[in-house]
Amino acid sequence: MHEAAFPSAADAAIVGAGVCGLAIGWRLAQRGLKVAIFERERAGAGASHAATGMLAAAAEVEPGEDDLLPLLLESQRLWPTFRDEVEAASGRSIDYRADGVLVVALGREEVERLRFRFDLQQRLGLATEWLGGGEARRREPGLRPAVSAAISCPGDHQVEARLLVAALAKAFVAAGGILLENCSAERLETAGGRVAGVVTGQGTCRAATVVLAAGAWSAALPGLPAEAVLPVRPLKGQSLALRMPVGAPTLGRMVWTEQVYLAPKSDGRLIVGATVEEKGFDDSLTAGGVYALLDGARRALPGIEELAIDEIWCGFRPSSRDDAPILGETALPGLVVATGHHRNGILLAPVTAQAIADLVLDGAMRGPAAHFTAARFAPAPRAEAAE
Ligand code: GLY
Repeated sequence: MHEAAFPSAADAAIVGAGVCGLAIGWRLAQRGLKVAIFERERAGAGASHAATGMLAAAAEVEPGEDDLLPLLLESQRLWPTFRDEVEAASGRSIDYRADGVLVVALGREEVERLRFRFDLQQRLGLATEWLGGGEARRREPGLRPAVSAAISCPGDHQVEARLLVAALAKAFVAAGGILLENCSAERLETAGGRVAGVVTGQGTCRAATVVLAAGAWSAALPGLPAEAVLPVRPLKGQSLALRMPVGAPTLGRMVWTEQVYLAPKSDGRLIVGATVEEKGFDDSLTAGGVYALLDGARRALPGIEELAIDEIWCGFRPSSRDDAPILGETALPGLVVATGHHRNGILLAPVTAQAIADLVLDGAMRGPAAHFTAARFAPAPRAEAAE
């Protein structure tokens, strides 16, 4: 991509060119702002590069996430329009696939736990369907005969996250945005108790609004006052990609088991993901991690034994203290955040971009995003001493 000239000032400066930073920048640029995004590596080099790209509000639902679900569903609803817009603006495909997800169980104990998951989905009003093992294998003939039940989640789709990054970057630049890659944000500039800009390796960009969208690195930006530091940490995930035979995919849609998920892509790759590890920023690829992925995949889909390994990688999900995103204003005027997306960064990109654009341009976030500000982590006020 054409290297942009460094801007000494912008209406909004964004730290981080992952899917969320790019989508926010694109929405702001579309609405007429001068926007600069500063990325210390290549666009999407962080969690976005590692992501499988699933838009799986139903398959991923967990007990205790009742507050998060409306945000996930709202973003899932926005996704088809978002896809159309980003593909039209960039002239690039993002490999959106609407094949749905099968969550499968092998053996009686897993069926019991799957039934619990299905009951939860039904209580939450999600459009999912219980299938016997025979029907699951009819839909996906490569599944092992021991697959004895499944949940079909037809509304859970997927994209190719790396294609999405490339398309968003192109759409952002086409809308007039300034993308600075290999340009790390070294410090947040403040003046008079509010944000004044970003100091980078290439110079200072003055901006009255700074959007911090640096994923798992969002807590580490020097210059953040203590009250604006976010409770975000890296949650490591190792994944790998296998290569399916041309014209004869081993799997036609995403499959989840208790151990792994498998996501076939239209370029013939079959992504197997992902470990969930509290290892800080340790980026080693481990025998145990890769073994767990291959063993879990083979348990459901024996045909993977024949497939070549294409790539193995790891990434760092940005996870907050309650595993929900942190969106919107902070204790520092002018500093806006969009991080903490945990396992749902790709799914939540459209709603995140819309919410942050609404905040910057109209002064408030609307809809379910408004419940996910950093204010929920503020210490409770001390009780008044009894009189
Ligand atoms: N959304 C899948 C993952 O985080 O591994």
